Amino acid sequence: MSGITIALSKGRIFEETLPLLAAAGITPTDDPEKSRKLIIGTNRPDVQLVIVRASDTPTYVQYGAADLGIAGRDVLIEHGGAGLYQPLDLNIARCRVCVAVRKGFDYAAASQPGSRIRVATKYTKIAREHFASKGVHVDLIKLYGSMELAPLVGLSDAIVDLVSTGNTLRANNLEAVEDITTISSRLVVNQAALKVKRELLQPVIDAFAGAVKP
Ligand code: ATP
Ligand code: PRP
Ligand code: MG
Repeated sequence: MSGITIALSKGRIFEETLPLLAAAGITPTDDPEKSRKLIIGTNRPDVQLVIVRASDTPTYVQYGAADLGIAGRDVLIEHGGAGLYQPLDLNIARCRVCVAVRKGFDYAAASQPGSRIRVATKYTKIAREHFASKGVHVDLIKLYGSMELAPLVGLSDAIVDLVSTGNTLRANNLEAVEDITTISSRLVVNQAALKVKRELLQPVIDAFAGAVKP
């Protein structure tokens, strides 16, 4: 496309991006929660949105299938960020990555340097680096969702997952025992597109920057 393609995931990122798009004068013509369309037009004939899985956003932008995208820092750490320019922290979809265990589990004992712990997570890179920095041997079990279930059914001792209100942990009799890092979503830009289409992309980037809430 000679115009701009923006990759967004539906759900919280799409919802929280709407005000930023509005600041750039962009209004989607469909709601991805209601439509099955994966390419959504906007009021601007030169701007389209593509609806992707949250964890796929960096890939679409890296390969230039989208010029811009919005992705959580969790997703960007796991992806590695190759080929991506990350000019803005948008301060949306804020949460943290935590280690959590069943209430009553002796995490202090289980996470002594030299010990071995079984951890279920979608975030294998973040988890591997975290436990390596503590000198704890970790057996990682890769999951794609519902991480909170794993300690309840004996799949793992601990999980590494996102926590926001803590409601999901509480509902499942788990507790956060360590904060690893804080997360918010970032604007990602294809590096080549920024050179070739700068006059189109820069005003959108600037409008987003002006609309970021502290
Ligand atoms: P995928 O489709 O890749 O498995 P997902 O369906 O979990 O991801 P979302 O739940 O929409 O996708 O999460 C998108 C991003 O929003 C995450 O990468 C994270 O940065 C942030 N996020 C996830 N959960 C929360 C939460 N409970 N509160 C605030 N931000 C969150
Ligand atoms: C995310 C995350 C946690 C939950 C934490 O799940 O994976 O399970 O939010 O938020 P809380 O601390 O406010 O409860 P999400 O709602 O995205 O559901 P998902 O399993 O479909 O990703
Ligand atoms: Mg989620």
